[in-house]
Amino acid sequence: MIHNQDQVLAYWNDVAVESMYDKHLLNAEIEVIQRRIPIGAKILDAGCGEGEGTLAYASLTGTVVHAVDFSDTRLQKARERLRQYENVTLKQVDFLGTYELDYDYDIIVSQRFLINLTDWPSQQRVLLDLMRRLRKVGRFLMLEGSQQGVDSLNEFRAAWNLEPIPVKWHNLFFDDEALVSFMAQNGFELVDEDGLGTYFLLTRGIRPALDQTLNWDCEFNRLAAMSTTDALLGFGSKFSRLKLWIFQK
Ligand SMILES: C[S@@+](CC[C@H](N)C(=O)[O-])C[C@H]1O[C@@H](n2cnc3c(N)ncnc32)[C@H](O)[C@@H]1O
Repeated sequence: MIHNQDQVLAYWNDVAVESMYDKHLLNAEIEVIQRRIPIGAKILDAGCGEGEGTLAYASLTGTVVHAVDFSDTRLQKARERLRQYENVTLKQVDFLGTYELDYDYDIIVSQRFLINLTDWPSQQRVLLDLMRRLRKVGRFLMLEGSQQGVDSLNEFRAAWNLEPIPVKWHNLFFDDEALVSFMAQNGFELVDEDGLGTYFLLTRGIRPALDQTLNWDCEFNRLAAMSTTDALLGFGSKFSRLKLWIFQK
């Protein structure tokens, strides 16, 4: 079912909603993104939300960050968080409306933003616009929902007698093949990809089979999020509901 963007905006304007409840996952996302940001990059953080990622990207040496979102509430939270960062400019932008942004970004980050555009034609339109706003050698770091990741995790859960985890009503995850082929047809090359499969498998596949209590901040999740855990198990994009795709012009 396709949801109206007004409903999506109302959801994000609710002060009680947090962009991401699982802070270990959020930190792991930020980690895979920030290690791909070069010194001194001019960055667009599209759909910046409360600015948790923005803060990390603005803390990197020499970066300049334009952080944009369509929600007053999210921008207000981001403004409070980033008050002391003179290298960050916050702006209200609805990517499905008309807006002005620069065309010379070194890096564009989309961290769980595009999945909030709940139909594929809108996602395609915004993908093309974001790619146009990159410098020639710039990179689009797209950390978004993967339908194949959802399916492989749910397949594992089924084997362990767990119910599937559905995609939320205000999200439309990407079909991996459709995304990569759409980008290729428009001349954009997939230069790298990554995922958080180890964390997803451990926290959404194995832990719930042993302990049904929901506690994002537990010790198990902290250990699961460690980069050494990932280095040892290395599931990459397998089982990863969120995948990092890196595209270049
Ligand atoms: C899941 S949050 C992600 C926030 C942040 N990137 C993060 O990683 O924590 C998605 C964000 O996309 C924003 N968003 C959704 N649709 C949008 C649109 N059409 N234009 C601009 N921002 C939008 C929402 O307001 C929300 O802050």
